[in-house]
Amino acid sequence: MFRALKTSFLILSLLASVTAQAEADVKNGEKIYKKCYFCHTLDQPTNRMGPHLMDLQGRKAGSVEGFRYSEAMKQAGENGLIWNDATLKEFLTSPKTMMPGTSMRFWGLWESQIDDLFAYLKSRSEAAPGE
Ligand code: HEC
Repeated sequence: MFRALKTSFLILSLLASVTAQAEADVKNGEKIYKKCYFCHTLDQPTNRMGPHLMDLQGRKAGSVEGFRYSEAMKQAGENGLIWNDATLKEFLTSPKTMMPGTSMRFWGLWESQIDDLFAYLKSRSEAAPGE
């Protein structure tokens, strides 16, 4: 009995993760972005608790004017850290692991969430010029 319950739970959670994967898309990315929204704008060059994220792809870390970065972030930029898919993925999976001393208080995202988030960020940056 207990075993049967356990098995059906396993199947249910497998099903749930399969559906979640099928929905891996821009819409889900938008939801994930809501976690960042509180601290980061995406379409205005203004800083909140964190620097704005306009033109993030290819941007040097710690380079938004007027934002007070941590020493760790400034140093990373000086050492040549550029934001792209690979570096963002590493940072967003666990900011503190990649950059001890960062002032970004964020626990990190799962890899599948990051793919969706990128899809959303890219759809936004492509839409931007015409808006
Ligand atoms: C609680 C506020 C907060 C949340 C939530 C947050 N961030 Fe940040 N973020 C910051 C701060 C503060 C910094 C500056 C860190 C530093 O100087 O070490 C930062 C820095 C960054 C940087 C580096 C920017 C640059 O100019 O070099 C990126 C990229 C970034 N955040 C992306 C995200 C994304 C994507 C999310 C959502 C998944 C997110 N952040 C969630 C506060 C936040």
